[in-house]
Amino acid sequence: MAISEGKTPDALRRQFLEIFHQIARHKHRYDVFRDFVILAATALHNGAMMDEARETEYVNTTGGYAREDIESFPKLLAILVELLQPEPRDILGPLYMELEIASREQGQFFTPPELSDLMAAMNFGPDLLKPLETAPFITVSEPACGAGGMILSLVKVLIEEGHDPAERLWAHCVDVNRLAALMCYVQLSLWNVPAEIVVGNSLTLETREVWHTPAHHLGFWGARLARRDAEAGQGDASPAPAEQEAAPDTSQSEPTEDSAPSFDVQLPGEQMDFGF
Ligand SMILES: C[S@@+](CC[C@H](N)C(=O)[O-])C[C@H]1O[C@@H](n2cnc3c(N)ncnc32)[C@H](O)[C@@H]1O
Repeated sequence: MAISEGKTPDALRRQFLEIFHQIARHKHRYDVFRDFVILAATALHNGAMMDEARETEYVNTTGGYAREDIESFPKLLAILVELLQPEPRDILGPLYMELEIASREQGQFFTPPELSDLMAAMNFGPDLLKPLETAPFITVSEPACGAGGMILSLVKVLIEEGHDPAERLWAHCVDVNRLAALMCYVQLSLWNVPAEIVVGNSLTLETREVWHTPAHHLGFWGARLARRDAEAGQGDASPAPAEQEAAPDTSQSEPTEDSAPSFDVQLPGEQMDFGF
């Protein structure tokens, strides 16, 4: 969609906010932003893997808007795609902060992209990515993912080091706040990152929802991870329960990457430190 051809990122952001502020002016800005994220996440998810309950939520969500408002949501998504295009970078988090709708009680202060980039460059230089010389992929855990800014910065490092994130990375992200988790889902999906995003609590290990990105499904990551775990003696090579529910039939198309074990990224301290 040539909605904003030739515009600078600043002009695109202004255009996003202009369209956003025109939508359902009688509703609270938080509700409109949340609904935009739900619609975008569901469209991306159900394009790759239909989920009836999510489709119902999609229909119910649009039901609260006039026709011209419903037509504005895809325009916002088109601008988001353009804003994300130059590099993996958190766009939704800063927009959310700028709209002043973040929950301070839940610690929703998203890390500025420049800082996430700096941390990723310091933590994931060539040395920490060395295992990719022999392992088919690495996995990373983000227990307080917010909009996914830190994972996007890691994706940037991987690309700069010559790795294809869709093949060499699998991310597990958790956020207790559904809107934050779905923002993460949208941005990782648009950057084609194989990932599992959990709406849940990293401290109590409560899981409320599990969302797999299109790259997870299309890359048969359920099978890849099961095989990795089986080779490491942690499983029986059958998909985990969440996978069984949603994964496509992989019996005809088992991926053919070599059988070297993968490598879980461990930051100094504990794996769970990434993100807090
Ligand atoms: C300071 S933000 C950081 C987000 C992201 N890592 C970043 O750097 O932009 C902390 C995030 O943790 C989430 N959070 C707080 N407590 C949590 C918990 N117990 N389990 C999972 N997420 C949690 C909040 O909803 C919020 O999105």
